[in-house]
Amino acid sequence: MDSQSAAPYFDSLADYVRAQVHSFHMPGHQQGTGAPAEFVSLVGSAALAADITQVQGMDDIHRPFDGCLRAQHLAAQAYESERCYFLVNGSTCGNQAMLMAALNPGEAVLVPRNAHSSTMSGLLLSEARPVYYQPPFDPEMGVFHVATPDSVLPVLERHPEARALYLTSPSYYGAAADVDALVALARQRGMLVLVDEAWGAHLVFHERLPRSAVQAGADLVVQSSHKLVSGMSQAAMLHANGERVDRARLEAVLRLLQTTSPNTLLVASLDTARRQLALQGRQLLDLVLDLADRARTGLRAAGVRVWERRPGVYDWDDSRLVFQVPGFRGYEVDRRLRQQHNIQLEMSDSQNLVALVTPGHRADQVDRLVRAVSEIARQKPESSPKRLPHLPCLPEARLSLKQAFLAPWESVPLSKAAGRICVDTVCPYPPGIPWLVPGEVPSPALIEELQTELAAGVTIQGAYDPQLKTVRVVKE
Ligand SMILES: Cc1ncc(COP(=O)(O)O)c(C=O)c1O
Repeated sequence: MDSQSAAPYFDSLADYVRAQVHSFHMPGHQQGTGAPAEFVSLVGSAALAADITQVQGMDDIHRPFDGCLRAQHLAAQAYESERCYFLVNGSTCGNQAMLMAALNPGEAVLVPRNAHSSTMSGLLLSEARPVYYQPPFDPEMGVFHVATPDSVLPVLERHPEARALYLTSPSYYGAAADVDALVALARQRGMLVLVDEAWGAHLVFHERLPRSAVQAGADLVVQSSHKLVSGMSQAAMLHANGERVDRARLEAVLRLLQTTSPNTLLVASLDTARRQLALQGRQLLDLVLDLADRARTGLRAAGVRVWERRPGVYDWDDSRLVFQVPGFRGYEVDRRLRQQHNIQLEMSDSQNLVALVTPGHRADQVDRLVRAVSEIARQKPESSPKRLPHLPCLPEARLSLKQAFLAPWESVPLSKAAGRICVDTVCPYPPGIPWLVPGEVPSPALIEELQTELAAGVTIQGAYDPQLKTVRVVKE
């Protein structure tokens, strides 16, 4: 076994670049020499020189036997899983793969209704039958948090046939579930546990952070290495524990879902992100947590409402900043930060804002953010937030996701969509939690709230009409 100071995949890529091989292979930009000058000057010639393909000496994520396999084993060791798979299509394909590998069509899986849209697309592809549960709703933040034993247990008891419990933890807002208790609950009933831990690639490296579902022994756990740690965009990991989910099927599903031309930069960034965390994670996260604490103190002093561990939530990821500026919609603060201060946050919703603090930040940057938010807090808002939940209630599902997705459709104005079966997914992005998935029937209250959010500036993904003036419904 290599030591955690090794980065075998990265090294093989560096060796190839250094060898100045006369290449006659993909990509067509020939390690940058054939790329347009404006592109080279933006991204740098070194990055393009390392953008190669699965040539001799470069191991492949689809049939790893050398540098990639060794890098995956090191990641499994660092994250305390039994097997780690590298992903180049984000946690999105990890969520899809978990569901397709673990469940047969028609098998029931307990899913939080505030799961990410990639979970919903995994349900569509796998044809597993979702049985939704609602994690506790937080009326002050206006969001649903993460599963608790109390929110899952009644649904579990009503559906003893369910094959798997699906969890999202931590949430976009940093709420984290008691993964040990939930895994134990599922195990007592012989159920599988699948976890979307897209926001948790840093958890195992610091004791002040919530416990990772990998450590709690969940069967499959997906993590976005590009979200809070230093992987490049799209780089993610899928961890497997035990043999309850057939590994051969899981690997076959990953081959189905992932490109046959994995980007070598992304894969190398997974290897070095793991090495960075394994060797220095504790110190780096100490700094991150100190910076986040410093920002929270500054924001509170300016009268900003800072969210920390919430009532009814088991644990909280203190590395991120989650706050509300009283009197303001989150979207408006987000816009003003960009327009007035050239600051871009991770996301906003109708009330809250989320800023990520990572090992890439310094104290002066965090202070700049605090000063900017404090200045906006002293301004006059254009419109004030309306206190409404993101999802007023569970929309009724009349068709399965797949049946509705494939059904003949027609477009109707959003104002006329109440009572009709949706074909589109309607999903504010971020946070990427769908308000409607194919097969669901919106109530008049939900349509009204969507209209309010649209007027306030929410960005919608998943619908055929991105402005959502119209929505696709099953043809009558
Ligand atoms: C909870 C959750 N799961 C999955 C994803 C998808 O992750 P990726 O962007 O790595 O595909 C996201 C993206 O924001 C997310 O918030």
